[in-house]
Amino acid sequence: MRLNPHLAAMPGGYLFGEIARRVQAYEPAAPRPIIRLGIGDVTQPLAPAITQALVDAAREMGTPEGFHGYPPDQGYAFLRRAIIDADYAPLGVGLELDEVFITDGAKTDTSALPELLAADARVAVTDPVYPAYVDANAMAGRLGHYEKGAWSRLVTLPCHADNAFVPELPRERVDLLYLCYPNNPTGTVLTQAQLARFVAYALETDTLILFDAAYKAYITDPAIPRSIYQIPGAERVAVECCSFSKSAGFTGTRCAYTVIPKALQGRVDGRMVSLNALWARRVACRQNGVSYPVQRAAAAALSPAGQAQVAAQVQAYIDNAHAIVAALQGAGLEVFGGIHAPYVWLRIPGGQSAWDFFDHLLHRAQVVGTPGSGFGPAGEGYLRLTAFNTAERTREALARILAVL
Ligand code: MLT
Repeated sequence: MRLNPHLAAMPGGYLFGEIARRVQAYEPAAPRPIIRLGIGDVTQPLAPAITQALVDAAREMGTPEGFHGYPPDQGYAFLRRAIIDADYAPLGVGLELDEVFITDGAKTDTSALPELLAADARVAVTDPVYPAYVDANAMAGRLGHYEKGAWSRLVTLPCHADNAFVPELPRERVDLLYLCYPNNPTGTVLTQAQLARFVAYALETDTLILFDAAYKAYITDPAIPRSIYQIPGAERVAVECCSFSKSAGFTGTRCAYTVIPKALQGRVDGRMVSLNALWARRVACRQNGVSYPVQRAAAAALSPAGQAQVAAQVQAYIDNAHAIVAALQGAGLEVFGGIHAPYVWLRIPGGQSAWDFFDHLLHRAQVVGTPGSGFGPAGEGYLRLTAFNTAERTREALARILAVL
């Protein structure tokens, strides 16, 4: 049989798999319990309104009247309506029901959405970047060859302290630009004007922006855009991916959504085609969506009671992020992000490489971070810490880190 050569040519393992492997190998010898500030996995239990909805929907499924078979391809209308009313209407963004697609995760859709474009589409990402975007496009054969740590056809936009982690516009023509704000991994945000510059660029150059807003719940300043559609014209160039994972604790429950406005059009053989219609066609044949109880649980997260409960959970993570920033800055480290995001991006002191510092913290402090270089070459010299652990373990991790600097 002939296998996918692009998949076979993938370098190393997936970042978080490699971290898990190193932690697992070390754990039996660790002198005390390891504290995980690595992968951004939430730790608080599901909020009461959400568990109640899950239980109710599961019971409903066990009755003849309440049983649900295949969900609608794009998701149940009750959830899409709740998303429009709770997440977009307050921002002054109007959406129609069929512009929202329910999916099991933002990772799933940010990886799959490039299927909308031509097979040889040119892709641009920030560097550092959430590695799933790059890996998915590499496997699909869009990124060329991997040589000396770089993909030959991938356009990268370096983000570092000198440009305040605000990427430059791509210098060469690209078809697809990934933007994630609040940013994973740097925890930084874009102002309205900075995001508007990308939208203007995309309108001018006919580029699709894939805007990953998975961390929007962490924005505490109303002046910072929570949706790219707050920028006029974005509905003609941007797809937006959002998730219940980090806003409502759904990393294990799985529910997310993607917005594809009907105003968004591209060309196929010289004729204009709606991306929304193409995606609806693709979704109908590729997936059966998210289960009824989980969609009910997601809708419960958007109910008034649910919103209050998940906001309190998010606030606890924000408090952790602020505590991490304060402690590390207090120790004289250079620290970025962590104000409107659950990620803190710290410059590694003493010139150690990111993986060496990762190993140092694991072996000396029994704390897991994520090496910045795992997010791209521009992440070398940085380490990411997440704010998703408990307040107590976060405090303990900080004390341990400060003791081994
Ligand atoms: C991360 O740690 O970057 C995220 O949790 C990974 C993800 O959302 O898949």
